[in-house]
Amino acid sequence: MFEGNWVPTEKPLFMVRICINKRLNTDKLPSCGGRGSRGLADLLERMILEQRIPAEVVRGPCMNNCLMGPNLKIQGGDFFSLNDDISDDRIEEIITALKEETLKRRAAVDSPPSNESNPAK
Ligand code: FES
Repeated sequence: MFEGNWVPTEKPLFMVRICINKRLNTDKLPSCGGRGSRGLADLLERMILEQRIPAEVVRGPCMNNCLMGPNLKIQGGDFFSLNDDISDDRIEEIITALKEETLKRRAAVDSPPSNESNPAK
């Protein structure tokens, strides 16, 4: 899968949760799994590793937004309802959001909140 000098990514700073629920379709309603979220999870996982984004992909159950799926949530960040659009543009939008969340997390680690406003601590 990876060739050359591959170095493992750092410990994940946050997760991105993807609904992979697939209905039996007895009710004829769409589901994230039925709209390709399992393949999307695999693709995002691969891109996260390749681009060394410190995020972990977590496959999870229904998020109660089935009609607009595939759905995914960046921990502490954006919620995406792809509405059956797993195009390159949407995937790039997700990767951009993951990179922005990474910057936000790293900035928080580099400059933790001060205790000056609370002298009791
Ligand atoms: S099947 Fe994904 S939100 Fe319900």
